[in-house]
Amino acid sequence: MRTPLIAGNWKMHKTIAQSERFISGLLPLLYAADGVEVGICVPYTDLQAMVDSTRGSRVEVYAQNMHEAPEGAYTGEISASMLNEIDVHGVVLGHSERREYFNETDAVLAEKLLAARKAGLAAILCVGETEQQRADEQTEAVLTHQLDRGLALIDAEALAALVIAYEPIWAIGTGAVATAEQAQDACAFIRSRVAAIDAAASESVRILYGGSVKADNATELLALPDVDGALVGGASLEPESFAAIVGAVAT
Ligand code: PGA
Repeated sequence: MRTPLIAGNWKMHKTIAQSERFISGLLPLLYAADGVEVGICVPYTDLQAMVDSTRGSRVEVYAQNMHEAPEGAYTGEISASMLNEIDVHGVVLGHSERREYFNETDAVLAEKLLAARKAGLAAILCVGETEQQRADEQTEAVLTHQLDRGLALIDAEALAALVIAYEPIWAIGTGAVATAEQAQDACAFIRSRVAAIDAAASESVRILYGGSVKADNATELLALPDVDGALVGGASLEPESFAAIVGAVAT
């Protein structure tokens, strides 16, 4: 059985003071939530404060990016060991905003996944197609391309522990959520691609849906057989809306 994961992606939101207010509002709301893993993916400057404030709770703290090299002349970048040193749980890699605005390629993401693995960081790899690619019936081709290249360097053990977030770009921040059928088909397809690499890993890899997840659509999406959780943007910014999504899967 795969434990569902609800991960909130704050993007470039929240100062340390705002993150502290958020977490003191969230933790009491999660008190009774069982059978679910909860993550928050926060700006670098919030990481230490959130690691400290969530210690002993069920909330795991993720960075939103990292560099693939162990160290070096990469001004403005952060390495896996720097995240590890402050007890960050994991890192989100290849969000479509990183791919689009910061030119992240599948080849670099493969290296980042390997670096995260070596540092013992959990990883969430994001994949997904644009509206045009879906209209052109290229969704599976795009996912295949992203997965074949992105997963090229990690071993089967890392693959089994990986989280893959299916985020159709047309559904991110738009309110246009994928239908249950679209989400299930894409997540099942992703699992089949993982199975083509390693059958056992495909049973344990967790696949999240992301794109305009809200409390009122979470129950249907999270009940889908190949959807093992959600990556939540806008609705993760307030404790109440985020906790309501966690509540949709908690036992
Ligand atoms: P959204 O963002 O929930 O605001 O659509 C999702 C994401 O970008 O991870």
